Amino acid sequence: MVDIIESKRDGHRLSKDEIEFFVKGYSKGEIPDYQASALTMAIYFRGMDKQETAYLTDAMMHSGDTIDLSSIAGVKVDKHSTGGVGDKTSLVFGPLVAACGAKLAKMSGRGLGHTGGTLDKLESVPGTRIGLSEQEFIDQVNRIGIAVIGQTAEVDPADKKLYALRDVTATVESIPLIASSIMSKKLAAGSDAILLDVKFGSGAFMKTIERAEELARAMVEIGNSLGRDTRAILTDMEQPLGCAVGNSLEVKEAIMTLHGHGPKDLEELAINAGAISLTQAGIAPDLEVGKKMIAKAIADGSGFRKLVEMFAAQGGDSSYIEHPEKFPLAKRQIPIYAKASGYLHRIDSLSVGVSAMKLGAGRKTMDDVIDMSAGVILKKKRGDQVEAGEILAIAHTNMSDISDALEMLENAFVINDEPVPYTPIIHKYIH
Ligand code: URA
Repeated sequence: MVDIIESKRDGHRLSKDEIEFFVKGYSKGEIPDYQASALTMAIYFRGMDKQETAYLTDAMMHSGDTIDLSSIAGVKVDKHSTGGVGDKTSLVFGPLVAACGAKLAKMSGRGLGHTGGTLDKLESVPGTRIGLSEQEFIDQVNRIGIAVIGQTAEVDPADKKLYALRDVTATVESIPLIASSIMSKKLAAGSDAILLDVKFGSGAFMKTIERAEELARAMVEIGNSLGRDTRAILTDMEQPLGCAVGNSLEVKEAIMTLHGHGPKDLEELAINAGAISLTQAGIAPDLEVGKKMIAKAIADGSGFRKLVEMFAAQGGDSSYIEHPEKFPLAKRQIPIYAKASGYLHRIDSLSVGVSAMKLGAGRKTMDDVIDMSAGVILKKKRGDQVEAGEILAIAHTNMSDISDALEMLENAFVINDEPVPYTPIIHKYIH
């Protein structure tokens, strides 16, 4: 292990054997944290080339169980978002692609800090099970085309250990380490085709479009080099996605979007991402046809019905999906008013996300309990014209001491005199 650390410290390439030796030894507890920390720091400074990153991903992916989806007929598609504020895309995208005939066997995560997670949103519908057995998972996808569950403990144990170590050794922000961490989990989850939604901007992991593109290209290369059709889109997370931030509030917005009444940016993202997945699955010959198919699944209600079916299949009370007014509302709803007239220039995602977390919608640590009804509803989006005194957003909470959260939410909005040009939600498609 000392030789491996020394080699990377001095800027050399690591071989497949060296990388496997490290991943196996560290997963089994035979390599101590201090040596793993030294190596991750050496990787942080020296980087890894494409081949090394692919070897690292492959070794991590095989550190635990890999899910065999071969008993599901057809191309299995998956979508992964690098995370953001108000990102409920999977709840719209998933049922839409499944309604068009794609097979989506998806493992999702929980929210942490200012970012939300699909599993928490699913659990805002009473009764929903996110812990299906592998067989139940496969059977459900075969039966209705879609299942969304949590990652099992046996998938990618190397990543769990390494990520926890990187978190406390300032080695998270390394493209080869992030790319291998995300891709090893996606590859272990077994789908044939992967679409990566790489977010950039204030509320995203990657703050600039350049860094997001670098990460996206690294992940697309890994996926393709390991035999999966992998593509990526770079999407805007400077402002929250859609208008709802917070678990049941986001589920309601996803339902509205499936009814054709959702916010423009969310609908645009779901339609475009859906079209890409349909082409990956061989269901649509090109993106234009794919978009039309997805738009039809919104217009004819088949996407909505698929969401109802999915919740029912996973034990959820699907009457909440059919009657979203059943979701309990938070006791307090506090408006945030515009302090000036003009154009809404900016809605800082990070501030909205942290504010929603402080209102009860998110976790500071993995053990925190979340309030499903808490969060923020934006009444205006970037580019909108506003009058002083108009409502910009409404904070939903059951908590009393929230002055911090409200101040942060107020400061998230920047109004000035200049009109703001429209920018599409998707900035680039990498394939
Ligand atoms: N998300 C992951 O799963 N891994 C990283 O390294 C960073 C973000």
